[in-house]
Amino acid sequence: MTRLYELPLLALGSIALANQEAFESKCTQFANEIDIPNVKVNFAEFVPGGKNLSLVDNPPSCDASYQSVSVDLCRVAMAVSTSESSEITLEAWFPREYTGRFLSTGNGGLSGCIQYYDLAYTAQLGFATVGANNGHNGTSGEPFYHHPEVIKDFAYRSIHTGVVVGKELTKKFYDEGFKKSYYLGCSTGGRQGWKSVQKYPNDFDGVVAGSPAINFINLLSWSAHFYPITGPPSSDTYLSPAKWKVVHEEVLRQCDTIDGAKDGIIEDPTLCRPILQTLTCPTHTSNKTTCLSSAQVQTAQQILSPLYGVNGTLLYPQMQPGSEVLAAPIMYNGQPFSYSDDWYRYVVYNDPSWSGTTWTIQDAAVALAQNPYNIQTWDGDLSSFRSTGGKVLHYHGMQDQLISSEDSKLYYAHVSDTMKLPPPDLDEFYRFFTISGMGHCGPGDGAYGIGQGVGTYDGTDPEDNVLMAMVKWVEEGIPPETVRGAKFVDGPGSAVEYKRKHCRYPRRNVYKGPGNWTDENAWQCII
Ligand SMILES: *[C@@H]1O[C@H](CO)[C@@H](O)[C@H](O)[C@H]1NC(C)=O
Ligand SMILES: *[C@@H]1O[C@H](CO)[C@@H](O)[C@H](O)[C@H]1NC(C)=O
Ligand SMILES: *[C@@H]1O[C@H](CO)[C@@H](O)[C@H](O)[C@H]1NC(C)=O
Ligand SMILES: *[C@@H]1O[C@H](CO)[C@@H](O)[C@H](O)[C@H]1NC(C)=O
Ligand SMILES: *[C@@H]1O[C@H](CO)[C@@H](O)[C@H](O)[C@H]1NC(C)=O
Repeated sequence: MTRLYELPLLALGSIALANQEAFESKCTQFANEIDIPNVKVNFAEFVPGGKNLSLVDNPPSCDASYQSVSVDLCRVAMAVSTSESSEITLEAWFPREYTGRFLSTGNGGLSGCIQYYDLAYTAQLGFATVGANNGHNGTSGEPFYHHPEVIKDFAYRSIHTGVVVGKELTKKFYDEGFKKSYYLGCSTGGRQGWKSVQKYPNDFDGVVAGSPAINFINLLSWSAHFYPITGPPSSDTYLSPAKWKVVHEEVLRQCDTIDGAKDGIIEDPTLCRPILQTLTCPTHTSNKTTCLSSAQVQTAQQILSPLYGVNGTLLYPQMQPGSEVLAAPIMYNGQPFSYSDDWYRYVVYNDPSWSGTTWTIQDAAVALAQNPYNIQTWDGDLSSFRSTGGKVLHYHGMQDQLISSEDSKLYYAHVSDTMKLPPPDLDEFYRFFTISGMGHCGPGDGAYGIGQGVGTYDGTDPEDNVLMAMVKWVEEGIPPETVRGAKFVDGPGSAVEYKRKHCRYPRRNVYKGPGNWTDENAWQCII
């Protein structure tokens, strides 16, 4: 029997289009057939598989002028107005070998950038896929300045608009339309996935939301609060990346074997509560290479603590231990964090000269009180999504250096409490997987390749690939019990060193043997 999720698979209605010439001419004529309100087609072009596509219009700060495309597809580029003063740039990629599935990709950071690599990845897997620029161009938050419609696009409207238009186009392009609708995104893209689940429960049958930037405003305040702790590099409270490596090694020394395996990977960072005074330099030590001043110990402790607001409520949980080396050059580098700066400048205070060097916890209260367009994305009642039959697969790297995985655990508890559903009931439509050894949406020290993006997977078997796992859940009713990740020898796409099956929260992974820790069967998910 041919399983639905095996590739390639041609849906019946596409057989005419499977002929390349017919497909090409369908594509080039398609621009003239599109008559949708608010949609202006820029072009429709046939892209042959194997092409290194030049992205001449992509804003320079998006830092992608080429995208290699592995399958034949029809690329449609549009402008879609979202209000009298705002628009999204939207692309739809229609693969010739189509599986009858629609998908939307998401964005990252505060951008402003169509994620062409996600379009290429999902088109390659046979999805009719769309991607938008989130209502503005480039990575800066400056377009938000005195422009609430642009903030609204960013908060929720860009994705939803792209889905509405994208579904209509998909129905026009393929005679058979589409049978199921999916979402794949990480980081801001993870937040966008959750926003869809919370606000537009009918947009998707299956949502894969990774490392989500939910609790969004408090996340930006949390990112802003590191600079006042470290100070600039000249400050005695600052730790160089080399010192953070010393902290990381001590964290591993104290916590690596909590899960039973000394493999350099912390399976459950929540159980790791390192005592960092062990690193304080003894008096009269002249060689301070592998120890810290007491000011530096305090810095490390504060950074690994939760952020509380002016009235003592928890704003954002602690950075998970284990991410020190990855986080040091970005979050603890002795400079204010640029996304936080941009949000405070162009949204919170409308003051381009505002600087994160002056940030205090009072600023966090001002920012949270605004919550424009409910960008917080923290609604705990998912009953509408549940009743449509929707499924959501949430994952988070346990070594995430930009968004603490503790925030995802907090959200899971928030949904469970709000809906009064224990984990076995949530499992019916919402499954959360903790991915040890995964940094922010990608590389970390362990088995992070779960099919979250192009090159970061080992095959399209649903056991190895979160997107295909979602397809199997939606179309066959078989949900994933675990998510298997690949550890690559030398980065994404290189040879696989070992694999590990990651557990569904609230289970955690423990090494039981008898094989080596590189053996996926030597591990067990326990509660
Ligand atoms: C695509 O072309 C650019 C510019 O020539 C080049 O730098 C890049 O390596 C190419 N990518 C692939 C996958 O061939
Ligand atoms: C973004 O860039 C595209 C391509 O250059 C352009 O057509 C579009 O108008 C720009 N959008 C905004 C909101 O500036
Ligand atoms: C200081 O200690 C480090 C680590 O033990 C060692 O590599 C280094 O050579 C020492 N430096 C001096 C000047 O002794
Ligand atoms: C404390 O602050 C939070 C966040 O600003 C707010 O939601 C909450 O209502 C405040 N609680 C009290 C008791 O003032
Ligand atoms: C387990 O695998 C690691 C990595 O391949 C290797 O370094 C180590 O020697 C192995 N341990 C045992 C007990 O086989």
